[in-house]
Amino acid sequence: MTTVGLDIGGTKILGAVVEEDGTILARGKRDTAAEDPTAIVAAAADLVDELAGDGDVEAVGVAVAGFLDRERERVVFAPNVSWRGESLRADLAALVRLPVVIENDANAATWGEFVHGSAKDVDDLLFLTIGTGVGGGVVTDGQLLRGAFGMGAELGHMRVVPNGRLCGCGIHGCLEQYASGTALVRSAQHLVASGAPEAAVLANRCGGDARTLTGRDVTDAAMQGDPAAVGLLAELGRWLGEGVASLAAILDPEVVLIGGGVSQAGALLLDPAREAFTEHLTGRGFRPQARLLLAELLDDAGVVGAAALARDLVRTGR
Ligand code: BGC
Ligand code: NA
Ligand code: ZN
Repeated sequence: MTTVGLDIGGTKILGAVVEEDGTILARGKRDTAAEDPTAIVAAAADLVDELAGDGDVEAVGVAVAGFLDRERERVVFAPNVSWRGESLRADLAALVRLPVVIENDANAATWGEFVHGSAKDVDDLLFLTIGTGVGGGVVTDGQLLRGAFGMGAELGHMRVVPNGRLCGCGIHGCLEQYASGTALVRSAQHLVASGAPEAAVLANRCGGDARTLTGRDVTDAAMQGDPAAVGLLAELGRWLGEGVASLAAILDPEVVLIGGGVSQAGALLLDPAREAFTEHLTGRGFRPQARLLLAELLDDAGVVGAAALARDLVRTGR
């Protein structure tokens, strides 16, 4: 069976035609304006038309960066995109005239890793994706956790600092405000703007204009050994590790995957995360500890997972 997977984020839509075994047959992309849900749906439909062509695509799965309702009809709310109660599933299905299933982007990516990626042989896993936000996904006993209202597994909105930084979700102190790519860039910008001598390499990368600094600049500088950038990634890693320890206390996973753009920093992120995880894990030393690993499908996890959910829709009707 062939299905299309889409991954709708704040700035772009990724799409792919995916085979039963997870092989990607074709890819496509559209730029989007985060402020205009109607335009996003139109761009998504256009991308599906391009990808489905006159082939034998049977359904479409859509990964979207927000909170869905339990029926998976609407995007109820999105902290970093202006979706508020959007009837995404029906609107898109009307345009593409194929069965459509929608899913939270991090849940879809988790499903992708579970079905085709680094967690194929694991039944209990957590997935944290580090990008604009911090996305979360939970598989327990082989099932994707959605919760009573469809909004479970928002791991990035676990509160890690009482009355900490204000989050796009309206609450203070969420993990996302300390461990996202956005948080990484913000810290790097502060460092550059402070004029501190250790910020010289980062300042150089953005020609002295801190506002133009990107997450890529920070991970590149770190990978080339710049101590300031290495330090910023380590700080992010420690926040992650602490968060994972709290999550492990509740969910006791076998594997915890770290994905998303910032995960490309590899050991620079994972080593400090592992250290903090071990340090903060309840009962440490007396219990098995989950393996903290890099996700495998990188940018494809969302589209591959969404396409897998579309296959489930065709087979089981949901
Ligand atoms: C949103 C999640 C999403 C994540 C990654 C978070 O801010 O709350 O729904 O999965 O960002 O896009
Ligand atoms: Na999620
Ligand atoms: Zn939040």
